[in-house]
Amino acid sequence: MADDKLTKIISLCKRRGFIFGGSQIYGGLSSIWDYGPLGVNLKKKIKDIWWKEYVENRNDIVGLDSSIIMSEGVFLASGHLKGFSDLLVDCASCGKRFRLDMIEKVSDNVYKCPECKKEIDTEKNPPRKFNLMFKTNMSASEDNPYYGYLRPETAQGIFVNFSNVLNTTRKKLPLGIAQIGKAFRNEVTTGSFIFRMKEFEQMEIEYFVRPEKGDEFYKYWVKERYDFYLNSIGLSRESLRLREHSQEELAHYAKACTDIEFNFPFGWSELEGIANRGDYDLTKHAHESGKDLSYFDQKTKEKIVPYVIEPSAGVDRTFFAVISDAFCQEEVKGRERTVLKLKPHLAPHQVAIFPLLKKNHDIVKLAKNIFYDIKSKLPASYDDTASIGKLYRRQDEVGTPFCVTVDVDSLGDKKVTVRNRDSMAQDRISIDKVFDFISDQLDKQ
Ligand code: GAP
Repeated sequence: MADDKLTKIISLCKRRGFIFGGSQIYGGLSSIWDYGPLGVNLKKKIKDIWWKEYVENRNDIVGLDSSIIMSEGVFLASGHLKGFSDLLVDCASCGKRFRLDMIEKVSDNVYKCPECKKEIDTEKNPPRKFNLMFKTNMSASEDNPYYGYLRPETAQGIFVNFSNVLNTTRKKLPLGIAQIGKAFRNEVTTGSFIFRMKEFEQMEIEYFVRPEKGDEFYKYWVKERYDFYLNSIGLSRESLRLREHSQEELAHYAKACTDIEFNFPFGWSELEGIANRGDYDLTKHAHESGKDLSYFDQKTKEKIVPYVIEPSAGVDRTFFAVISDAFCQEEVKGRERTVLKLKPHLAPHQVAIFPLLKKNHDIVKLAKNIFYDIKSKLPASYDDTASIGKLYRRQDEVGTPFCVTVDVDSLGDKKVTVRNRDSMAQDRISIDKVFDFISDQLDKQ
C-alpha cells in the first residue's frame, strides 16, 4: 500500500510537471531530479514562507548566500574530509553496491542483497568507507590540480562568514544567520524519490548564543520548527512527530539533537534535524584558519566562543511531505478521483479558468478577460485544451482550489460557475464578484 502510494505520487509528479528525472533524455542520473513548472512554483513558496518568517519578520536573524564550492581547509576543520563517509558493500552475485546500514542483516557478518536476494558475506567481501563529498579540480591544468569541494551542507558557508557578518552588521547575541541553498552528497540510495538526493536544497539557520543559553535556545528551536511545519506549512499533526537522538546516535559535533519526523509513504523519517552544536564549529575553524572567531561581549567585557543551535531543514523533503500529505484518492460516482488537497497558500495556482466552448469566440474572449483580471491578483492558469471533465481532473491533480467555467449563459447573465476542489460544490457567481468570492473562500481555508 505504502509502495503503491509512493509510485502514484512519483507518477503524478512526472505527469503533471512537478518533478522530472534529471538528464532524462540521456537515460537519467540516479538520485538526481529536476523541478518542472509546477514543482518550481511550489518549491519557491516553501522557501519564501521560511525566508519571510525567519529573515524578513525578525530582527535577530540575517540572511546569507555563500558559495557552493569551498576550500579543502573548510572540510578539514569541519571533519567532513575524515568522517563524512558511508560504509559500502558490494554484492558479489549481482555487482550492485549498498550502504551497509541500510540492508538486512541475516547473521553475524552476513547480509541479504536487496536486489538479487543472495547473501553478502562481509568477511570475504569487507565493506569500504566512501566519502560522500564531491571533489572538483579547480585548476586550469589537469597536471597541476588543486581541489575544491561542493559543500555537503550550507552550514559551513555560515561558519566561515561568522566574523564577516558580525563585523558588518554590528549585531549582538543571540544572532542567527540563515541561508537557503544547494548542498551535494554522493549518496548511495535505492528508490527514495526526492527523500535522498545527490543534489538537494537546505534551509539552515545557525543561531549563535552565549554558551549558558545553549540548552534554552535548543528547546526553543525544537518547538519553533515543529510549529512551523504545523502552522506555516500546514502539515497534519498526525504526520509529524519529534524524536530525540540518544547519546550513542549523536553526530560527533552535537551536544543534543532532535529530529522532526514525517510519516512519508515508506514510513517515519527525518524531515529536519535541530542540533545543539556547542562551540565545535567556531573552535575548529578558528584553529584550522588561524583566525579569531570569538565574540566580544560589550556588556560583560569578555571574549567568548558562542554556542550554535542549528535548525537544518530540507526543501525537497518539505516538498515531498507537502505532496504526500495532500495526496488523496477518493471514489466519486463510481470513479476514482485523484486530488492534491494542498493548502491554498501552497497551491501552484489558486484558480483555473476555462471556456466551456473553445470555438465560441465570445466565450473565449470573456474567459480570457476574467483570467487576466484574476491573474493580476492571484496565481491563476487558463486551459482550453480538453473537455470540461478532463480539465477539472487535471486541476484536481495539481491541487488548484477553484475552477471558473465560462459558458454560453455567461454571455447573457454575466455569471460563471465556480467549482470548489474539495467539496466539488458549484456556485453560480456574478463575474464582478468572482474575485471577492474566491478570496473570501481562500481566507476561510
Ligand atoms: N547542517 C546539518 C545537516 O546538514 P543533516 O541531518 O545531514 O544535517 C539536514 O541534513 C536536512 O537536510 C535533513 O533533515 C534533510 O531534510 C535534508 N537532507 C539531508 N540529506 C539529504 C539528501 N541526500 N537529500 C535530500 N535532503 C537531504
